[in-house]
Amino acid sequence: MYVYVVFAHPSKESFTWEVLGEFVRGLEHAGHSVEIGDLYEMEFKSDMDLDQYKRETALDPKAPVPEDVKAEQSKIDKADGLAFVYPVWWSDCPAKLKGWFDRVLTYGYAYLYADGEHVTSRIDVEKALVVCPAGHTVEHLEEIGIAESMRRIMINDRLLGVGVKQAKMEILGGMVGGDAAVRKENLERAYELGRKF
Ligand SMILES: Cc1cc2nc3c(=O)[nH]c(=O)nc-3n(C[C@H](O)[C@H](O)[C@H](O)COP(=O)(O)O)c2cc1C
Repeated sequence: MYVYVVFAHPSKESFTWEVLGEFVRGLEHAGHSVEIGDLYEMEFKSDMDLDQYKRETALDPKAPVPEDVKAEQSKIDKADGLAFVYPVWWSDCPAKLKGWFDRVLTYGYAYLYADGEHVTSRIDVEKALVVCPAGHTVEHLEEIGIAESMRRIMINDRLLGVGVKQAKMEILGGMVGGDAAVRKENLERAYELGRKF
């Protein structure tokens, strides 16, 4: 498969960066071809400006989209699979990636209405995987309902809701105060997630 991996973390000394490395190593060992979209490195403009806001709310599917948005949409068009690697920040993805969804999932591309109903998407991606390191343990995030809310928003709305056929989230938890064993286990998991993508 051709897999487009969207990465959102400002630091190459972070745990999330190491997770990206192991995940991509797993993907490549399994024979997938990989393209990485490092949103901070490419200085992706994450804020929706007035011009694009007007474009999105005019509901004209043929209205032109900004060049940087078009470039991301072509990467999605080439991809059989999508992956997202980012740290959990305040129970969601970093704002940089939230802005990627705001701007790249445009009207006429990711969704289209007919008679007031959401009818279709041009996105044709077989599967997506969301891999996100978190400070809290997975058990704690499940218990307080945050893991479920993260899945509903990221998986149900932003991925399955725009035409991706299958999508899953894997939280690599327990990183705040986590010992070397937790770190090692999470990195091994990241590699396996890539290998079994
Ligand atoms: C601004 C910020 C917000 C965070 N919010 C959460 C959170 O809501 N839930 C959580 O489990 N961990 C949270 N964390 C912890 C990170 O998800 C965790 O440390 C993760 O392993 C990323 O580490 P890294 O920055 O070394 O890649 C937060 C960290 C930062 C810096």
